[in-house]
Amino acid sequence: MTVHFIGAGPGAADLLTLRGRDLIAGCPVCLYAGSLVPEGVLAHCPPGARIVNTAPLSLDDIIAEIATAHAEGKDVARLHSGDLAIWSAMGEQLRRLRALGIPFTVTPGVPSFSAAAAALEAELTLPGLAQTVVLTRTPGRASAMPEGEKIAAFAATGAVLAIHLSIHLLDKVIAELTPHYGADCPVAVVWRASWPDQRIVRATLATLDAAVGTEMERTALILVGKTLGTADFDESRLYAADYDRRYRPIGAEPRFPEAP
Ligand SMILES: C[S@@+](CC[C@H](N)C(=O)[O-])C[C@H]1O[C@@H](n2cnc3c(N)ncnc32)[C@H](O)[C@@H]1O
Repeated sequence: MTVHFIGAGPGAADLLTLRGRDLIAGCPVCLYAGSLVPEGVLAHCPPGARIVNTAPLSLDDIIAEIATAHAEGKDVARLHSGDLAIWSAMGEQLRRLRALGIPFTVTPGVPSFSAAAAALEAELTLPGLAQTVVLTRTPGRASAMPEGEKIAAFAATGAVLAIHLSIHLLDKVIAELTPHYGADCPVAVVWRASWPDQRIVRATLATLDAAVGTEMERTALILVGKTLGTADFDESRLYAADYDRRYRPIGAEPRFPEAP
């Protein structure tokens, strides 16, 4: 018996890995983390599977579900939205399973920041503008931020920020970002990236608050940085005609001569 932790992707049911799909199809028990896991992903469960929404359960309840499946020799698909590496609460479950000696695997998923960037048709790292993306959030009721992990501290680097779990604090976020990026810095909010009701607002830090208005839906990402919405950036050296590289050696004495 094995518990398969699977990143269920950002929303669109077909943004699920083939491995994740096949594991779900092979598990007689599926525990999924609430409304952010789409029904289309649950549709891969085999007929008769026990399918449990864990949103109202405590960690103890979830582990009890897993322990029961373990005792019955039934594999479990454990689904969390997006990818498992960020804000999935997988870590505490793995710690319990290790202590109980219950085997598990981890299968990654498409994270929401990738889906949001795709919705914006944006490469977040553009030469000369930004080469770093910070995945962060503001403090919440369930999770305080460690000292030092302040939005303003990340903003001071000029990196692109993908700010999760924070749309309800938009005015505070804008106030912290503006001194570092400038009021005219491009910013975007993507709600429910890849879902059928996905929505996008593009603005500057100066105009974002008014552009978003009284939007209440919480499943949103705030993306800020110079690379959003500009055509003014350097081309990558990687594909430059005069760039000497292993698969396209250049000149009389290439750095990477072709094998004889
Ligand atoms: C608990 S975190 C889960 C993050 C997830 N593990 C991931 O890989 O993106 C939930 C937050 O992720 C962001 N999020 C998740 N799905 C999203 C989507 N489809 N579109 C926009 N933001 C999303 C929102 O900021 C939301 O408040």
